[in-house]
Amino acid sequence: MKKRVLSGIRATGRLHLGNYLGAVKGMLALQGDPLYETFYMVADLHATTTPYDPKTIVGSARHVFIDYLSAGLDPHKSTIFIQSHVPEHTELAFLFSTVVTVARMQHLPTFKEKVKQYPEHVTMALLNYPVLMASDILVYKAGLVPVGIDQEPHLEVAREIARRMNQDFGTDFPEPQRFKTEGEYVPSLTGEGKMSKSVEGSYINLTDTMEEIKSKLAKVPTDEGKGSSVPKEGGIASLLAFIQLFEGKDKRSEYEKQYVSSGIRYQQLKEELAEAIFEELEPIQERRVELENDPGKVDEIIRNGAARARKAAQETLQEVKRAMGLL
Ligand code: ADP
Ligand code: TRP
Repeated sequence: MKKRVLSGIRATGRLHLGNYLGAVKGMLALQGDPLYETFYMVADLHATTTPYDPKTIVGSARHVFIDYLSAGLDPHKSTIFIQSHVPEHTELAFLFSTVVTVARMQHLPTFKEKVKQYPEHVTMALLNYPVLMASDILVYKAGLVPVGIDQEPHLEVAREIARRMNQDFGTDFPEPQRFKTEGEYVPSLTGEGKMSKSVEGSYINLTDTMEEIKSKLAKVPTDEGKGSSVPKEGGIASLLAFIQLFEGKDKRSEYEKQYVSSGIRYQQLKEELAEAIFEELEPIQERRVELENDPGKVDEIIRNGAARARKAAQETLQEVKRAMGLL
């Protein structure tokens, strides 16, 4: 039997290079492999766990869905769908919540961060975020999850839930592992922390033009370009990480050597980097334009994806209800 894969990204607008390199690239790597059956979703319900605009969420979900297709997720190879179109996820999440303690959820670093960010919105939905995520994964019995390193605490919860369910009710859930990519941690353009859509000035979007990329890179803080050792953090470390990701390891070493000898000319480095990034994004942007001009086709992929996903999800839900004595 093929091993199942599931991943998702919250529907909170546009994708940036962190999402692309940390999550989407991993999704792409697995979708062509005959050993795997891949399920990729847009997590619109997870987007409602923090303040959101009900008028724009459908549009945001569609935006991420089109980003997926533009980046190369292929409905002939993967089941691609929108989370809320498969109500089995929320039903299973409720059943899972019977084996999860409130204390465990309250102690998660991801929960604490959101509490700090939105002290007025500490809701049950937010507390339940990792339980719904476990359900997203386990409703397909997925054993592999391509996501960035920041999602590891959530995967740990999914493994705990799988173990508990198997012990208490005799189900056969796998313990999902993270599928890592080279870009599992994409640093911020500001030089501090990771690239994130919640930090202004930290990201490059998949839809950015060459000019936008150039002007964003121009703002990355640098130094005089020379020194006795290459900085391990800050703007220069971020630039070097991007060079490795888009121009390769050798190019990075070249710049590192320059830093401790003749010196780096950042203007030229940034120019080259902008070109390398745009070269990767341009075909994605071209496909996006095609898809935007064919909304009927996108609608159909969304519908078919949900139907296929529901079929698989219903099987697991039936099994769990039976195991828990509800059927
Ligand atoms: P954000 O932090 O911008 O809100 P999300 O939390 O929606 O991004 O993350 C969606 C996916 O993209 C997750 O799999 C996450 O691990 C990945 N991801 C987000 N930011 C980065 C990053 N800077 N480096 C690597 N992966 C990332
Ligand atoms: N929590 C993930 C994020 O930050 C989104 C997500 C929701 C997800 N459900 C998932 C990722 C299931 C992988 C598997 O964006």
